[in-house]
Amino acid sequence: MKLSIKDLDLKGKRVFIRVDFNVPIKNGKVEDDTRIRGALPTIQYAIEQGGRVILASHLGRPKGARVDKYSLRPVAKHLSELLGKPVEFADDCVGEEVKRKVDALKNGDVLLLENLRFHAEEEKNDDRFAKQLASLCDVYVNDAFGAAHRAHASTVGITKFVEKAAAGLLMQKELDYLSRVITNPEHPFVAILGGAKVSDKIAVINALIDRRVDKLLIGGAMAYTFFKAEGFTVGKSLVEDDKLETAREIKRRAEEAGVELLLPTDHQVVDSFDPLHSRKTIPIEFTNVGLVGLDIGTETVARFSNALKGAKTVIWNGPMGVFEEKPFDEGTVAIARAVADAADNGATVIVGGGDSVAAITQAGVADRITHISTGGGATLEFLAGDELPGVAALNNKS
Ligand code: 3PG
Repeated sequence: MKLSIKDLDLKGKRVFIRVDFNVPIKNGKVEDDTRIRGALPTIQYAIEQGGRVILASHLGRPKGARVDKYSLRPVAKHLSELLGKPVEFADDCVGEEVKRKVDALKNGDVLLLENLRFHAEEEKNDDRFAKQLASLCDVYVNDAFGAAHRAHASTVGITKFVEKAAAGLLMQKELDYLSRVITNPEHPFVAILGGAKVSDKIAVINALIDRRVDKLLIGGAMAYTFFKAEGFTVGKSLVEDDKLETAREIKRRAEEAGVELLLPTDHQVVDSFDPLHSRKTIPIEFTNVGLVGLDIGTETVARFSNALKGAKTVIWNGPMGVFEEKPFDEGTVAIARAVADAADNGATVIVGGGDSVAAITQAGVADRITHISTGGGATLEFLAGDELPGVAALNNKS
């Protein structure tokens, strides 16, 4: 059990909270604030306790350079609206000016630091940089579950230089729900996985098979690697040619373990010569060399929805098609509705990954889902059974 923010005395202390505010920003505005809202309970708790709150996050992958579009400034404004109080912003995350701003904080004030990844030392987990971050605070809290799979200066290095490193409330909630699913899932247990690449999901698929998931539903472009491995024509659909044997091996392992593996039976395709006007839904086996599969078809939606009936635990990660290009978001949104129905019928439903979570919001079913994880890669690594470095680095409860 990790030390919790609730175990710490925050009054008058400089509380450094690592959050994951890696959110989509368009024209200077936050487009989806799920992750910011997720961190609110921790931030509000620290304010109520009279902490002097310092928030730090990464945004995008600026590769150690100051890149305007990756500035966290718009997030400070958005957060201030959500909290209903001013949020001070610092133009950097280390240095004299930041120190001055920290020193000026009064109990209950909030300061957001500029993108940690404007310094290459963040991703290098550089000790000197970690020490500089640590020097800003009395107490360190990690609430950035979404970044807990990264061993960076603000998630791991810093913990060596602070007296206490504790988990925030979002971090605890994520670990609670996800641990329950991997240690003691109620059966029938159904997992739906999608996205472009089998390679991103191999570890989690194997872990799910080992943990006796009852049904494994696979959609998205990764399904084409399975089809090609079986000798089907997949046309110009996305395939990982170096993962054909992996796909066969997964099928073999699933069969041996008695896991029902369901792949799409139909899909939405376009002709690669006329992608704008040629959309149609066809059975997988009718795919010819000129076609590109971009979403699952209606029969597959019905089969997958049916497979969820009676489920007691459901996890979903990854889109069923090219979700970002309408109308190829339809299959993913339909699955969002199906998992919400499963939750209404008593299943514990956990959804993670950017596109799946966006589909849940788009379908208007967010309040019906048991737990929407703020992690993408972190959720997958946790479900695969890996210890997340950002969690391992926190103090244990004594
Ligand atoms: C995420 O979006 O999954 C996290 O914020 C981690 O971001 P990263 O993949 O750029 O490290």
